[in-house]
Amino acid sequence: GSTTRYEAEASPAVCTGTIDSNWSGYSGSGFCNGGNAAGAYAQFAVNAPAAGTATLRVRFANGVTTARPASLIVNGATVQTPSFEGTGAWSTWMTKTLTVTLNAGGNTIRLNPTTANGLPNIDYLEI
Ligand code: GCU
Repeated sequence: GSTTRYEAEASPAVCTGTIDSNWSGYSGSGFCNGGNAAGAYAQFAVNAPAAGTATLRVRFANGVTTARPASLIVNGATVQTPSFEGTGAWSTWMTKTLTVTLNAGGNTIRLNPTTANGLPNIDYLEI
C-alpha cells in the first residue's frame, strides 16, 4: 500500500521540547528534540484506512552511545518499548520499523521516553 509521512515538526504532531533544525539530514523543516526528561514525548495523529496490523517507520538520530528507550503508546496503551540506539552522530539518521495494531480512522501514537535522557531526535513517522 501507499506510505504516508507524518513530520514530527508539523501540527497535529506534538513535540514537548523544541523543533530544531541544527543537525542536517532531516526531512521537512526540522525535527523534534523532545527534551531530556522521562515522559518528554513526541506524538503523532495518524490515519489508518482499515483496522489491523500496520508497519510504522520512525526516523531518528541519537548522537550519544547510550540507547534511549521509549514506550510506544498507541491510543493510550503501551504496546512495546523500542530502544533507540546510538546512530553515531546527531546528523546520522536511522529508521526503526515497528509493527502495531491500529483502529480504522484516527489513531494517536506517542513515543514516551522511559529515562531522563529523553528521546532521540525524531524526524518523522511513516505508515
Ligand atoms: C544535543 C543535541 C540535540 C539533542 C540533545 C539530546 O544537545 O544538539 O539535538 O536533542 O543533545 O541529548 O537530546
